[in-house]
Amino acid sequence: MKSFTVNGLQKSSRILVGESLANAGAYLPEGIEPVIITDKNIQRLYGDAFPEGRVITIGTGEKIKTLATVETLLRELISLGCDRSGFVLGIGGGIVCDIVGFVASIFMRGIRFGFVSTSLLSQVDASVGGKNGVNLDAYKNMVGVFSQPDFVICDIDMLQTLPEAEISNGLAEIAKHGLIKDLSLLEFLEANTRKALALDTETIFRLVADSVAIKAAVVAADEREAGERRKLNFGHTIGHAIEKLEQAGHGRAVAAGMAAAVRFSEHKGYLDRKDVARVNTLLGNLNLPVQTDLPVPELIAAASRDKKKQGANLYFVFLEAIGQARVEKITYTELNTFMQTTMA
Ligand SMILES: NC(=O)c1ccc[n+]([C@@H]2O[C@H](COP(=O)([O-])OP(=O)(O)OC[C@H]3O[C@@H](n4cnc5c(N)ncnc54)[C@H](O)[C@@H]3O)[C@@H](O)[C@H]2O)c1
Repeated sequence: MKSFTVNGLQKSSRILVGESLANAGAYLPEGIEPVIITDKNIQRLYGDAFPEGRVITIGTGEKIKTLATVETLLRELISLGCDRSGFVLGIGGGIVCDIVGFVASIFMRGIRFGFVSTSLLSQVDASVGGKNGVNLDAYKNMVGVFSQPDFVICDIDMLQTLPEAEISNGLAEIAKHGLIKDLSLLEFLEANTRKALALDTETIFRLVADSVAIKAAVVAADEREAGERRKLNFGHTIGHAIEKLEQAGHGRAVAAGMAAAVRFSEHKGYLDRKDVARVNTLLGNLNLPVQTDLPVPELIAAASRDKKKQGANLYFVFLEAIGQARVEKITYTELNTFMQTTMA
C-alpha cells in the first residue's frame, strides 16, 4: 500500500492506494457508525463487505448527479438521525464521490466524510482533490464546494469487476496526467497498454499511485484552481461538451476532448504532427475515441456553457510538449474558429 497526503487549505486528506474495503472500518472515527452511501451496482457486488453502518443506495449515471438527489439524501440523513458528529462514507465511483462529498459538506454546514473509491476513474481523479458537486440543467458540475474527505481508500482489487468500458474511461485520465505533467508515466502507459487494459495488478498499482501523486501535488499547490490546477482540465473544455451531448462516459469524452486539444496545440505551433499521431495512437490503443461525430454548432453551444467561462474568454489547456501543459486565456471566438475549421 502507498499513502499520500493531499494538503488542502482547511484540511488534509489521506489517499490510501492499495488499501482494501475490508479495512475501511479502521479509518472511521471511533464509536461512530457511518451512514454509507453507495450506488446499486456496488451495493449488489460488495454490500456484504461493507463496514457496519446504515446504507443508502442511489441509482447510477450522470443523470442522477442532480440537486434532486442531493435533497433526497439530505432528507434521508435527517430521518436516520445523523447529526454533526456523524460520518458519511461514500462507496462507489466518481458519481457517488461527487454527490456524497457535496451532501456531507453542506449537511449541517458540513460533517466528516470519506470514500472507498471503486472505479479506476475515481481512484485516479474524481475522489482525489476535494472538488465535489452536481450538475444543474445543462451545466456540468455547476453547484459544489471544495472540501477534502478525511480519507480515500483506492481498493485496486475492486477494479476487477469493472465493465471494460470503465477501465478505458479511467485510463483516459491517467493518460491525461502523463500528457500534462509526467513523460515517464506516459511512456510507462504506452509500453503497458495491454497489461493496463487487463488490470494487471502491478501495472494498475503504479498507474494509480503515480496519478494520485501528481494530483496531490497539484492540489497542494493550488487547491482552488487559480493557476496550476487548471492544467488538470486538459481535454475537458471540449470533453465536457461531448459528455453532455452524447451522454458518453466521462473518460471517453475527455479522450476525444484531449485529441482535439492536441490538434489545437499543433494548430498553434506548439506540437508537431508526430506528437498528434503519438497521442492518437495511445488513445486508440486504450480503446478510446479520438474524434466525435457530433455537429460542431451543437458542440460549440455546449462548450460555451462551461462553468470555467469568464465572459468572452476561457482558460484553454494546450500541450507545449508531450508531458508539459500550458494554460492560455483565449476567446470563445478563437475556440469556435478552431472547432469549425478542424472538427466540421
Ligand atoms: N470531482 C472531481 O475532481 C472529478 C474528476 C473527474 C471526474 N469527475 C466526475 O466523475 C464522474 C464519473 O465517474 P466514474 O467514471 O467513476 O463514473 P460512475 O461513478 O458512474 O462509475 C461508472 C460505472 O461503473 C460502476 N462501478 C464503479 N465501480 C465499480 C466496480 N468496482 N465494479 C463494478 N462496477 C463498478 C458504477 O456503478 C457505474 O455504473 C463524472 O460525473 C465526472 O464529472 C469528478
